[in-house]
Amino acid sequence: MTKQRVMRESKHKVVIEPDKRKWHPSPIIGQLVLVTTTNEDGTSNVAPKNWISYMAFRPSLIALGCNRKHWTTKNILRSGEFVVNVPGANLVDTIWEAGYLDHPRPVESTGLTPIPSLKVKPPRIEECRAHLECVLDKHFAYGDEVIILGRIVAASIDQEALEARNPYEYLKMLVFLEDGTYGTVRKAEKLKERTRRRLKELSLEKRSHPVDERLKPPVG
Ligand SMILES: Cc1cc2nc3c(=O)[nH]c(=O)nc-3n(C[C@H](O)[C@H](O)[C@H](O)COP(=O)(O)O)c2cc1C
Repeated sequence: MTKQRVMRESKHKVVIEPDKRKWHPSPIIGQLVLVTTTNEDGTSNVAPKNWISYMAFRPSLIALGCNRKHWTTKNILRSGEFVVNVPGANLVDTIWEAGYLDHPRPVESTGLTPIPSLKVKPPRIEECRAHLECVLDKHFAYGDEVIILGRIVAASIDQEALEARNPYEYLKMLVFLEDGTYGTVRKAEKLKERTRRRLKELSLEKRSHPVDERLKPPVG
């Protein structure tokens, strides 16, 4: 389908609430991870999180959204450290259960195995497939939520993921869609050669695009 054809076909847009809790379906996804932190007495804490994203290369930065009353938030703000553990689809029930277990909630209480991290005190979780060890860089509070920016100081992944013919099939990463609903990344596809060629052509073409009257800023 050509670009012009796409522009002529206008879909009907329905207004939805800005609050994610009201979305069904949710047009935004978050990767499901298990975050480990260290309690004041040196024991570990684990909690599922999905408000998480990679943010910058230098420094290598992760953003995590966490309720200010959560043990995870309090531990990170006090100790300055956390580990993002990346589980596969086989752990989905454990992940959900972990969110509802009483505290204290060390890694062992979820049936999972803590192993030492390379650079920080909170443990990695052996059954997870990759681990990002972070130190707190900055945080911002918005009402009940805290946005935590962490610098990745060490990262590790299962050797099987590096050796697999399809590493993403091995990782089988999970995303949170909406309450009680998740998705699994099962397929990785490489861009086709024709897309690469087309991108090159587009970057070489000098084209002028007429501006839609409705998109122009008001005059005066
Ligand atoms: C699948 C799932 C994803 C969650 N994602 C988040 C999240 O991104 N941020 C957050 O603050 N809480 C999230 N929660 C809620 C916390 O995991 C839950 O309240 C947990 O008990 C907090 O544990 P903590 O006090 O040890 O940090 C999630 C819960 C589940 C089940």
